[in-house]
Amino acid sequence: MKRLGMGLIGPGFVAAHHIDAVRRLGDVDVIAVAGSSQQSADKKAREYKVDRAYADYHAVIADPDVDVIHNTTPNYLHFPVVMAALNAGKHVISDKPLALNPDEARQMRDAAVAAKVAHAVTFNYRGNPLVQQARGMVANGELGDLSFIHGYYLQDWMTDPNVYSWRSDPTKGGATSALGDIGSHWCDLAEHVSGLKIESVLAELTTVIDVRYSSGVSAEAFSKGGSSERIAVETRSEDLGSVLLRFESGAKGCFSVGQVLPGHKNDLQLEINGSACSLKWRQEEQNELWIGYHDRPNSIMAKDPSLVSPEARRYTHLPGGHQEGWADAFFNVISDAYKWIREGAAPELKPAMLPTFEDGYRSNCLVDAMLKSHAAGGVWHKVEYFPG
Ligand SMILES: NC(=O)c1ccc[n+]([C@@H]2O[C@H](COP(=O)([O-])OP(=O)(O)OC[C@H]3O[C@@H](n4cnc5c(N)ncnc54)[C@H](O)[C@@H]3O)[C@@H](O)[C@H]2O)c1
Repeated sequence: MKRLGMGLIGPGFVAAHHIDAVRRLGDVDVIAVAGSSQQSADKKAREYKVDRAYADYHAVIADPDVDVIHNTTPNYLHFPVVMAALNAGKHVISDKPLALNPDEARQMRDAAVAAKVAHAVTFNYRGNPLVQQARGMVANGELGDLSFIHGYYLQDWMTDPNVYSWRSDPTKGGATSALGDIGSHWCDLAEHVSGLKIESVLAELTTVIDVRYSSGVSAEAFSKGGSSERIAVETRSEDLGSVLLRFESGAKGCFSVGQVLPGHKNDLQLEINGSACSLKWRQEEQNELWIGYHDRPNSIMAKDPSLVSPEARRYTHLPGGHQEGWADAFFNVISDAYKWIREGAAPELKPAMLPTFEDGYRSNCLVDAMLKSHAAGGVWHKVEYFPG
């Protein structure tokens, strides 16, 4: 079998996990990385043990040994990077959010479909075996009619006002903070597991920390910068928000996001209540699925290949009792993307779990509807989305 070549653009925090996942596949070579400068690319290439380092992302796209581009740049670069890769006929795996707004994302979705290449967005929570178990149970009708879909994604890493990076700069991170960064994961998960689409939203958003202190250097995400001289920057994007949801089926929902909530690290929870039973999955206890009943004792299903459905089993790697985690679920998404590439990337062959640019575009539409709902004073706003 021909080995595939991977090129990565944007070698920061999440890039390391893209590289790990690709290396774990065993039949893909990490050919090159492109960074924000030659110095930064060289440093990262040494760290990741990659032979080629480019200062300009066009060079990695033009490299004939690269079949698949992974985009892990700050959000504002997703559009130019991904469009350039698609124009060159490369398969693209982009991190989320796909774009800064629905207009960009729609163009990216259309360009990917026209290029007839594989396209994926790393909504990686889909890759957890028990998420796939939950999805299968809903699809088989085991929950009955769904009435309520709810949860949250809460973090605390932005509690300190000295946390400032491109993520807080609207020209680089986008107009939204918590909704775009982590609300996008929650909504994708809610729609993927429930099989239902969010039809309209009512959002209440807040900026708890409205002045942040920048070190003045272009800090990577999650960093607090290195300088003691700090510049005060007014922050407008939301770091806390709650959204009411109406699903197309008539089911109701709600979720909250927050990045300034001490003690909450990556506290993502999704609960779905149906007429027959309920399901709850927490990413911080991702090897357990809670199943709730009204007429018998509740139960907890463990992530155990011998207990889960065949669809979920193919995403497990270890026997029951051995914990699988974030990186395993991330690997599962990358693995499905490369499976699709190997099989020719025809739309009908796409693995059902794999999130594509269609899902990335949809996510931008959902967040946009939430921003508009809030801007209009907290009124119901219909999601404007044009399926491909
Ligand atoms: N799927 C997930 O759970 C997840 C987790 C973290 C981040 N992300 C997403 O991944 C993306 C990157 O986030 P991060 O946390 O890794 O950020 P980061 O700041 O750690 O990394 C971004 C990297 O891009 C580099 N870069 C900047 N300009 C560039 C250019 N012109 N050419 C090439 N490289 C350039 C930066 O130097 C940096 O190394 C974001 O879109 C973010 O939303 C997703």
